[in-house]
Amino acid sequence: MRKKIVAGNWKMNLDYQEGVSLFSEIVNMVRDERKGNQIAVICSPFIHLNSLSQLAGGVVKIGAQNCHQNESGAFTGEISAKMLSSVGCEYVIIGHSERRQYFAESDELLAQKTELVLKNNLTPIFCVGETLDERNNGSYYHVLKTQLENGLFNLSADDFAKIVLAYEPVWAIGTGLTATPEQAQDIHAFIRAEIEAKYGANLADNTTILYGGSCNAKNAPELFAQHDIDGGLIGGASLKSRDFVDIIKTFN
Ligand code: G3P
Repeated sequence: MRKKIVAGNWKMNLDYQEGVSLFSEIVNMVRDERKGNQIAVICSPFIHLNSLSQLAGGVVKIGAQNCHQNESGAFTGEISAKMLSSVGCEYVIIGHSERRQYFAESDELLAQKTELVLKNNLTPIFCVGETLDERNNGSYYHVLKTQLENGLFNLSADDFAKIVLAYEPVWAIGTGLTATPEQAQDIHAFIRAEIEAKYGANLADNTTILYGGSCNAKNAPELFAQHDIDGGLIGGASLKSRDFVDIIKTFN
């Protein structure tokens, strides 16, 4: 049975107190209002992780937004997967388009990061997605196939079974321009077919694939009703407790 997951990506937002306050609100609302077995995750900046894991009470899971590709060493300013695990982190977003774009993270580097995240018993939320140009010129299937092949398809079937995928059309991120349910379903089905071709139908059918890109409480019901959409990776709407919890309640 595919897991239903709604993960908030706070990006570079909220100072320490703002993050603790917002998270406490979200935990209380999820505890009171969640009716299904959907998983709620908050992927916060590093400064919040330890405190949020103390406040989570098993109600909301904790995630990070990145980690280094090495176990440890002379990498000033970086954070390791082992460090994340030590503060109660369970998920790590890998390959977000903003990291691919602003920090030149290649598929090969992301494959290294993914392996280390798995080695530290954390769950990667691996992001793929095309740019507006790639959408408009029709190369998006090829782009997505390449991101999967070079970023993930080196994994054994056992390891691949542990990952969560997120499809985030770059042109929908932070723009208010959401993919239509049909567009999103088309890509999710394509991704699942690629997984089936590589690892077989059973693993493909049990892989959680999230949608991200201007997902909000209004459009989540139609998006999440699609056969191959198993939840969302939420940016802006995760910074407002009511909006984020309403998205979680889509699966009630
Ligand atoms: O990782 C999720 C994020 O990229 C989506 O952002 O603000 O469009 O929901 P937003």
